[in-house]
Amino acid sequence: MVSHFGFGECFFAISSAPTKKEYIEVSVMKLGKVTSALHECEIGDTLGVRGPYGNNFDVKGWEGKNLVFIGGGIGQAPLRSLINYVVDNRKNYGKIDVIYGARSTNDICFKPEFEELEKRKDVNVHLSIDKEEKGWKKFVGFVPDNLLKIKPSPKNTIAITCGPPIMIKFVIQNLLKIGFSEDQIFTTLEMRMKCGIGKCGRCNIGNLYVCKDGPVFSYDQLKNLKGEM
Ligand SMILES: Cc1cc2nc3c(=O)[nH]c(=O)nc-3n(C[C@H](O)[C@H](O)[C@H](O)COP(=O)(O)OP(=O)(O)OC[C@H]3O[C@@H](n4cnc5c(N)ncnc54)[C@H](O)[C@@H]3O)c2cc1C
Ligand code: FES
Repeated sequence: MVSHFGFGECFFAISSAPTKKEYIEVSVMKLGKVTSALHECEIGDTLGVRGPYGNNFDVKGWEGKNLVFIGGGIGQAPLRSLINYVVDNRKNYGKIDVIYGARSTNDICFKPEFEELEKRKDVNVHLSIDKEEKGWKKFVGFVPDNLLKIKPSPKNTIAITCGPPIMIKFVIQNLLKIGFSEDQIFTTLEMRMKCGIGKCGRCNIGNLYVCKDGPVFSYDQLKNLKGEM
């Protein structure tokens, strides 16, 4: 959690990989009071940081598996951390597909990193934008449709998705259509939070606290709580 004194405090995913030891990075989308103030920060300004809180992606448990990352917009922030970790430990994982979409080319997060990733032969990158743009030769349409077109094999594969809730909803539907089982699908939730440590009750869904038990959940865990979200 990052606080800007006099403005407030916000949750952010750590977007750098744990293989980067010297510092952590967070990627902030300018939305309201705190995030706008953070965008005005200059080198040398003092911020508050507490955490990290919650659980994490099971990178060790997924060794030897194929991984499909499906991100949209700033939802790529936690996936970026994971993708960079997996690429830094490439031999421990099978096939890697990175599916990412944004509204337009201007909205693509981490553009230079995607360009680097696209040069690698051991990672398949599939980018999309929502609407046609001059010069864009890749997929045009929504992320869940691109996923259906790519149709990754569910065999020995874990799918991890993060993005706007509507995208996550249809991505999960399409993963199930392709043949992924509920325990092969993982997502991170962005419930509104306050304390971050399971005390205030702001973020609970069913008997789970997103701040403490999550924010990473398998679809298997979430499907029965859908009415609560
Ligand atoms: C676990 C978790 C991880 C997150 N990771 C990231 C990240 O890596 N990068 C990033 O940019 N953001 C991330 N967020 C979202 C980020 O915390 C919010 O964008 C931020 O709190 C907005 O604060 P603000 O003061 O700028 O906006 P406010 O002034 O509080 O709100 C501005 C507008 O945005 C709406 N809003 C505020 N928070 C949210 C939210 N969480 N979801 C939907 N609408 C919201 C408000 O209703 C209001 O309309 C994460 C949130 C959670 C819970
Ligand atoms: S944010 Fe307070 S209980 Fe989760």
